[in-house]
Amino acid sequence: MTVTIGINGFGRIGRCLTRIVSAHPDPGITIAAINDIATPDRLAYGLRRDSIRGTFPGTVTARADQLVVNDRTIRVFNHDRPERIRWAEEGVDVVIEATGRFRSGEVARRHITHGGARKVVISASADEPDAFLVMGANQATYDPARHDVVSPASCGVNALTIMAKVLLDRFGLHSVSTSVVLAVQGWQKVHDGLVGASRNDPRLGRGSLESIIPHNYVVGDLVRHILPGIGEMMFSYYCVPTPVGSLAELAGHTDRPVSVEEVNRAMAEAAAGPLRGILGYDPDPTVSVDVKNNPASCLLDPSGTQVTPDGAVRVRGWFDNEWGFSHRLLDLARLVGDRRSETTVTAGLGLWSLA
Ligand SMILES: NC(=O)c1ccc[n+]([C@@H]2O[C@H](COP(=O)([O-])OP(=O)(O)OC[C@H]3O[C@@H](n4cnc5c(N)ncnc54)[C@H](OP(=O)(O)O)[C@@H]3O)[C@@H](O)[C@H]2O)c1
Repeated sequence: MTVTIGINGFGRIGRCLTRIVSAHPDPGITIAAINDIATPDRLAYGLRRDSIRGTFPGTVTARADQLVVNDRTIRVFNHDRPERIRWAEEGVDVVIEATGRFRSGEVARRHITHGGARKVVISASADEPDAFLVMGANQATYDPARHDVVSPASCGVNALTIMAKVLLDRFGLHSVSTSVVLAVQGWQKVHDGLVGASRNDPRLGRGSLESIIPHNYVVGDLVRHILPGIGEMMFSYYCVPTPVGSLAELAGHTDRPVSVEEVNRAMAEAAAGPLRGILGYDPDPTVSVDVKNNPASCLLDPSGTQVTPDGAVRVRGWFDNEWGFSHRLLDLARLVGDRRSETTVTAGLGLWSLA
């Protein structure tokens, strides 16, 4: 079955989604329409030339209200509000809301009520979606009858949740504390600014290339929501001046003392088995740039694993904050877009990574 998607917001995530789908001509997803405030010419240029991903490996041209990507035609809408986009005209079933502007479940639902789509996937830790669904962790809780607007949380939450899930399932896990070190984001400022992102915390308006900037993103609530067995958590989040490639570390206590080898074996087995394509495992000494273009939610770095005799454990994983998360958005779009049973769809997990 092919799921027809529409993308609202053709920025970093929107363009990654398009690159991934274009690289796999028949993966069960087709992009029928894109909406952005930029003209088709600009959208085509942004897809062709990319400072991080390189020049598009194919052809991209613009027409009056279309993009033509490798001979596939995509309708381009040019609206600034979700309620104005007529997705139904292009048969769009699932909208991936990737503007970063419409993160509330209530507003994103307008893609359904006004635009005629059937489901919405918000590309962020949304405000009151019908469900948070992290692939590889809790996607089995998806209820097609109740969940129309869903969110995969964030790239950092995905990386942490996947490592936490392996530890929780295999050894029990409590008293967790986490850190995420996130590559620079488009909403940050190049030089110090006093408005926009700085509204919640003035540090978020500081020049992104100059500093390690603490972010007060409450990641713990989401991880705990997705993995309720995990208990209370402490967490920290930092934005750093690297263009792409991020780090997640998670520490906690297991129910019994474990060895480094046991932990790494559990991670390697999960990566080769039930979490294939979602969790990667790479013993080669890794720095952040090495994870670029990796489709996993988390690439476990076994050299980061530490334990103590009283059952404390610490693990480290890398993630491409754009590319891995975009793969999960597509996995989630396939899940909610498929009208067949949940079991059938789950069997397709990791398709993008394996292709
Ligand atoms: N980038 C990451 O690493 C990452 C990872 C995980 C999750 N996310 C989340 O994904 C979402 C998108 O992030 P991004 O990095 O792709 O952001 P982005 O690069 O800023 O992309 C957003 C796009 O939407 C356009 N846009 C702005 N207002 C719009 C409107 N009213 N209607 C339609 N289009 C509009 C923007 O145009 P202008 O550029 O002209 O404003 C831009 O093309 C955010 O919620 C972000 O938190 C991002």
